[in-house]
Amino acid sequence: MVNRRTFVLGGLGAVITTPRRDADPFTLGVASGEPAPDSVVLWTRLATDPIAADGHGGMARADVPVEWQVSATASFARVTASGTAVARYDEAHSVHVVAGGLAPGREYYYRFRSRGRLSPVGRTRTAPATDAAVRDLVLLFATCANFEAGYFTAYRRMADERPDLILHLGDYIYEGGPKPGHVRLHLGPEILTLADYRRRYGQYKVDPDLQAAHAAAPWVVVSDDHDVEDDYAGGHRLDDIPPLTAAQWTTRRTAAYQAYYEHLPLRPMSKPAGTSMQLYRRFGWGRLATFHMLDTRQYRDPQACGGHWKVCADAALPGRTMTGSAQEKWLFDGLAQHRATWDVIGQQVFFAGQLDSHGRGNMDAWDGYRAARDRLQRGWVERGVRNPVVLSGDIHTAWANNLKLDYADPGSATIGAELICTSITSRGNGTAATAVPTADVNPHLKFYSDRRGYTRAHVTPGRITADFRGVDAVSVRNSPIRTLGSFAILDGRPGLQRL
Ligand SMILES: [Fe+2]
Repeated sequence: MVNRRTFVLGGLGAVITTPRRDADPFTLGVASGEPAPDSVVLWTRLATDPIAADGHGGMARADVPVEWQVSATASFARVTASGTAVARYDEAHSVHVVAGGLAPGREYYYRFRSRGRLSPVGRTRTAPATDAAVRDLVLLFATCANFEAGYFTAYRRMADERPDLILHLGDYIYEGGPKPGHVRLHLGPEILTLADYRRRYGQYKVDPDLQAAHAAAPWVVVSDDHDVEDDYAGGHRLDDIPPLTAAQWTTRRTAAYQAYYEHLPLRPMSKPAGTSMQLYRRFGWGRLATFHMLDTRQYRDPQACGGHWKVCADAALPGRTMTGSAQEKWLFDGLAQHRATWDVIGQQVFFAGQLDSHGRGNMDAWDGYRAARDRLQRGWVERGVRNPVVLSGDIHTAWANNLKLDYADPGSATIGAELICTSITSRGNGTAATAVPTADVNPHLKFYSDRRGYTRAHVTPGRITADFRGVDAVSVRNSPIRTLGSFAILDGRPGLQRL
């Protein structure tokens, strides 16, 4: 093993560091993501003091080399790939290694070494080859992990399942200040600066349950509003709370994207440029599934009628967009390719129509962008997409919905299915309620749960089996998990079958 001092001096020449000899730099764990047939992203961030107020994790103003290794076994008896990356001070000592030259459809283990210390070992896997016939895929998806609302037990249970893949659909952090009376409290007031965001990620990422979920499987992530600010829409703020000048808002958005990139296992293509970051992207799982990951936050028009639940004719205006025209075109191009049995659209907000008995709809969800939803649905019908499935989050409760060509007409064709995962913690313990809200006026909404947890999808060529998983409570640690409802989606038959 390379001596720490020699390694630092030998590896980076003039860079002088004065590390505390015994401080563990791997307090934030490890992660992997973005599986491709030949590569995966490996992530860590060095921090000896994860909640340091300056956001630099107790690290000195210097770049630090980090060695990485990938192996087919957890013992690392034979190393498949290895190298040295540089954890840059300017990027809060985060590391994004694209580990290439890997075999398709294989399980791997990875670890880092820096300053003579070894990181925890993470498990990951590559995607199957593009043309591979894949027997099955176990996928978990999750969203909305407000640290204050409870313990991250659902993340721990996700790790216990050792899935092939985890999708995170936004609200990985929450931006607010501490709210007395909650299960645990955010450090510091509402976050606004890059130092604030980095420190907030530091507080979240020391959580052992979250670290376990990252170490268990590769993640593919998209951000949502709370990763920046509640209910923002592109460059628009829904309200002026807290009051910010235009320049301060730009600074905040820039900081939030930068910190999001720094703390998640994203590919370099997602590295932010100013106030934007490239998050919509596509990846495949052989001939079994194509995942189209959407960004419904950065390019959307402002919420119609001032947002929230409203009766709002403007929500149906044909010019309104949720994705922006470039992303919409990109999505249609992808849907026209018919690369795999299942076309899975991973995105943030409630997709199905859900106007209540007063005609009110959620203006932050697709009901506030009805023409855009209509274009998208007709787009996949016109292109003959055999099995469209939408995965969503945001709403802090679990739902299973049939997607309809016309939500005002219960007799109209079912043209797909939507699975909505509940939150990891947001909304707290919840209740055992399972009566579907607004089902009387929305018969296409088939399932509801007010427990916290995630959704498991077992994907095979013939069917997707979806299990809605919930923990009994998030106000106490180590709650057990149970399946609260299960549905099947059959190949070639749009819509849900209750199991
Ligand atoms: Fe949320």
